[in-house]
Amino acid sequence: MAETRLSVDDLVAPLFVREGIDEPQPVESLPGVVQHTRASLRAEVSALRDLGVPAVILFGIPGEKDAVGSEAWNPDGVVQVALKDLRDEVGDEMVLMADLCVDEYTDHGHCGVLDGYGSVDNDATLELYARAAVAQADAGADVAAPSGMMDGQVAAIRSALDGSGHLDTVILAYSAKYASALYGPFRDAVDVQIVGGGDRRGYQQDPPNAREAILEILADIEQGADMVMVKPALSYLDVISEARAVVDVPLAAYHVSGEYAMVQAAAANGWLDGDAVGMEHLLSIRRAGADFILTYLARRAAEILQG
Ligand code: PBG
Repeated sequence: MAETRLSVDDLVAPLFVREGIDEPQPVESLPGVVQHTRASLRAEVSALRDLGVPAVILFGIPGEKDAVGSEAWNPDGVVQVALKDLRDEVGDEMVLMADLCVDEYTDHGHCGVLDGYGSVDNDATLELYARAAVAQADAGADVAAPSGMMDGQVAAIRSALDGSGHLDTVILAYSAKYASALYGPFRDAVDVQIVGGGDRRGYQQDPPNAREAILEILADIEQGADMVMVKPALSYLDVISEARAVVDVPLAAYHVSGEYAMVQAAAANGWLDGDAVGMEHLLSIRRAGADFILTYLARRAAEILQG
């Protein structure tokens, strides 16, 4: 009689791969999550494939960061080599997504290039995203997932992909991405500190605004997004539900690092049943209307669902 079901098919595992390490590095604020080596990433993805998880999304931690984030489009950059490894490992059995942003690659930690006043230059950043999209697609990404919230990013990426022959590369747009405090543990995982204690409120969504999020989603679809996302998930279930009512394309939600870390911390204290609460979180995100969920719980949830 259940109205809503959660299945392994609904899960996308976010994974971190770091250049220049010999052993996986645990992320203290994300218990159970590591920065992978190329080899440990291959092993993890093949385990996820065996559990039936259909997709992963990759984040890279480069050896060197610079002002523009040039490792994001280096053909030998960490995510590009990892994509090639994984294509080799799993063939077409899994969907390979790549987060498309430059914050992991810039020395100032912003999602774009800075102008003379230290603000992100939206339009100059679009050219960098276009290069990163082509590099990711060349390396075998099925899906480019722009997360930087620059205006016009989907159109810029679509035209770069089409212009380089990647007509079938899908765009999953982080369309309604809020300037949330729930990304803290993620920034530990990717070694990002925003310069001068800054924030992303200049380009990410303002938490009080839901109608604006719908406008962002519709604009991304108009520009060519194949799938759209709301992020974070649990504090924004109303936005997921409203988005579901107005869009027909596949709708994703990102159960983000802070949402995961809170449950892990409480469970480690014996304050709640981590598996049960985690599954309730994921089911609630599905009930709100998301078709699929990016979550650090992907592997554990798949193990539970596969019994
Ligand atoms: C930006 C990006 C972020 C996350 C995914 N892509 C961080 C940010 O906007 O600061 C957050 C994911 C999470 O918290 O789990 N590349």
